[in-house]
Amino acid sequence: MTVREIFESMEYGPAPESAADALAWIADRGARFGHFIDGAFSEPGETFETRNPATGDVLAEITQGSKADVDAAVAAARAAQPGWEALGGPGRARFLYALARLVQKHARLLAVLETMDNGKPIRESRDIDIPLVARHFYHHAGHAQLMPTEMPDARALGVCGQIVPWNFPLLMLAWKIAPALAMGNTVVLKPAEWTPLTALCFADLCRQAGLPKGVVNIVTGDGAVGEMIVASDVDKIAFTGSTAVGRRIREATAGRRISLTLELGGKSPYIVFEDADLDSAVEGLVDAIWFNGGQVCCAGSRLLVQEGVAPDFHARLRTRMDKLRVGDPLDKAIDVGAIVDAKQRDRIAALVDAHGAEGDVHRAACNLPEGCFYPPTLIAGLSSASPLMQEEIFGPVLVSTTFRTPSEAVQIANDTRYGLAASVWSENINTALDVAPKLAAGVVWVNGSNMFDAAAPFGGVRESGFGREGGPEGLTAYSRSGGETDMLKPVAPFAGDKAEPQPVDRTAKLYIGGKQARPDGGYARNVFDAKGGLMGQAPIANRKDVRNAVEAARGAAGWSGATAHNRAQVIYYIAENLAARAEEFAARIDRMTGGTGGAAEVTASVQRLFTYGAWADKVDGRAAQAPVRGIALALRESCGVIGALCPDEAPLLGLISVVGPAIAMGNRVVAVASEPFPLAALDFYQVLDTSDVPGGVVNILTGDHAELAKTLAAHADVDAVWSFSSSDISGAVERAAAGNLKRTWVNNGRARDWTGPAGEGRAFLDAATEVKTVWVPYGA
Ligand code: NAI
Repeated sequence: MTVREIFESMEYGPAPESAADALAWIADRGARFGHFIDGAFSEPGETFETRNPATGDVLAEITQGSKADVDAAVAAARAAQPGWEALGGPGRARFLYALARLVQKHARLLAVLETMDNGKPIRESRDIDIPLVARHFYHHAGHAQLMPTEMPDARALGVCGQIVPWNFPLLMLAWKIAPALAMGNTVVLKPAEWTPLTALCFADLCRQAGLPKGVVNIVTGDGAVGEMIVASDVDKIAFTGSTAVGRRIREATAGRRISLTLELGGKSPYIVFEDADLDSAVEGLVDAIWFNGGQVCCAGSRLLVQEGVAPDFHARLRTRMDKLRVGDPLDKAIDVGAIVDAKQRDRIAALVDAHGAEGDVHRAACNLPEGCFYPPTLIAGLSSASPLMQEEIFGPVLVSTTFRTPSEAVQIANDTRYGLAASVWSENINTALDVAPKLAAGVVWVNGSNMFDAAAPFGGVRESGFGREGGPEGLTAYSRSGGETDMLKPVAPFAGDKAEPQPVDRTAKLYIGGKQARPDGGYARNVFDAKGGLMGQAPIANRKDVRNAVEAARGAAGWSGATAHNRAQVIYYIAENLAARAEEFAARIDRMTGGTGGAAEVTASVQRLFTYGAWADKVDGRAAQAPVRGIALALRESCGVIGALCPDEAPLLGLISVVGPAIAMGNRVVAVASEPFPLAALDFYQVLDTSDVPGGVVNILTGDHAELAKTLAAHADVDAVWSFSSSDISGAVERAAAGNLKRTWVNNGRARDWTGPAGEGRAFLDAATEVKTVWVPYGA
């Protein structure tokens, strides 16, 4: 027999990992678990079973949480929070280090428990999940340590409710708990009902680490318990899971003045250009879609191959698929393990059975064990509109289509409601780095896939959610930097009945697409000064005007592609032209508001424009050092179209304060001017007209905030909505934004000092940008 023949015929022998220690850990606890609340395990209550999906064996009985349990956990977290925050960053860092070390010490136990509860191959839990958990705690221990010098103004949010899914049970716990604790928050976390064991084991580690009681609380149960946490008295909800549940949570938290981050589903494209190293791309695809059996939110589940190499690539792929070993997840020689639960397997099978016939189905020629397994599957030749190309299957099923040109690849890649991740494969750096910025995705891997690191922000755009986890970018989701002060008093317009002696000289219009536009409804309202004198009229925009303005903003996409250097010049020019008319603006503001601060407001507005001109080319992002042969570039991109309800109390400075950062970062804006004092904004468009601002970049509407906010927030082509209105509309904005899960930034009725530092800077620049993490090969 030749060596070649031996290689070809050789079977892998099983290399089983022992389950003994993990089973002993479960047995030691009576195989029945209560919650972990206030530093102690509670008595088990009403329970449900958690099973090993590979064998069907019951592993343990888990308590279904009640409202009383959730309330007790939240109360414990609330009581513990001030003390935990008062420990200071370095004080908390010690505990995070201790947790990191304990995770490493018990890595084998945690990996085996994870594999038994979830069904993922031990190779993955041992080599990927658990090491990344430890890395996450180490990295965030560092952030806590550096907090006093690097984030001196940051404060904790308070109590965080955290809900995680079953696909990376302990890793998602780490992604949630480490940054929360680092910033001084306390947490109530619910693991998924199918995979609670490692979270309970982690609770044990918290005790071993001597973590103050109440800092981490774990409540187990199903979605109903998740809902209870969402409804409870927390300051923040962080959720990872399905888009459907994420949307419900957005609606349930709207108007409650709590912070929210959502990491939701995906249908991430995996783009193979004809000049790619095809064998590497096939291997990358194994990591992209068969890692964790495809039960990965950022799985490269949509293969796009350039037409010329498609037959060759598919042939290599099928050959590779047929060699994948599916079976006992505790066997170290296994590539693909069990599906988490029979329900999930049936969900996958139902989707494939319903639509598989639309393409060519290839199932891997593996020996599929009995039980909760699904074979690696490729469905080629699908059209982009097929449900299999659009729906998240969340299983080992790859769907595939072809493209001809890079621009077609981008178009198909972006033809989805999701925007979590993407992979680009090409040996040509120009092709890869030309395509990467055009992809609607929070993470792009160049010649790689499914790489994660605690230092590299992760998260999506569009219906994949908002917020980032990892790196300094992720810390903002768990801290506040102040800025907002007391409750904002509603600002009402002045009333009057005295007409001006001379006729009103200007019939103000809306400003849409760089042109003055009559309001669709044809209505305008009188604007009176403090003495009741008629100053002018302001058009009343309606939903049609909003739609027109959004369309104009959409059309002005060139602004987002313009260089930051160009944008800076335009913004300086606006500042200059405003300064030239300072007196006129100041007088008008004084008369409109009945105050004397007009001159100061105009000066501050000019200053602020210069500030954003300065910022335009200085928000550069960061290069994260991940411990791989590569570098993760955390780049800042514009959000796209931002709808902004401007502050009522500062008619010009408020407008500038939202439009400035938005356009500096390359967004296009639909700004709804101060409701009581709209005239300064209407005068301002004359300044825009003379400042080389391309049409559609800034659109200005006037009218009823509450009415316009709803249309803006619900509009599918608006990417983010901000509200600084003094009307009580924060909740309505958040609720309407649930439709396409757009990002929101609302004042929750709180005032902001627009003249001071709280009126500008980092918070605005962060809100005006999305982080895109681009992983590129780098180094030896
Ligand atoms: P899910 O979104 O229902 O579950 C995730 C977590 O949310 C679990 O802890 C669950 O108990 C909790 N939950 C469920 N309903 C809730 C509610 N109303 N309020 C608060 N928390 C709630 O996901 P599920 O049903 O387990 O999986 C369904 C599909 O979702 C999968 O087929 C997959 O397509 C997708 N999914 C995506 C994930 C991702 O990371 N993107 C993770 C898990 C599922």
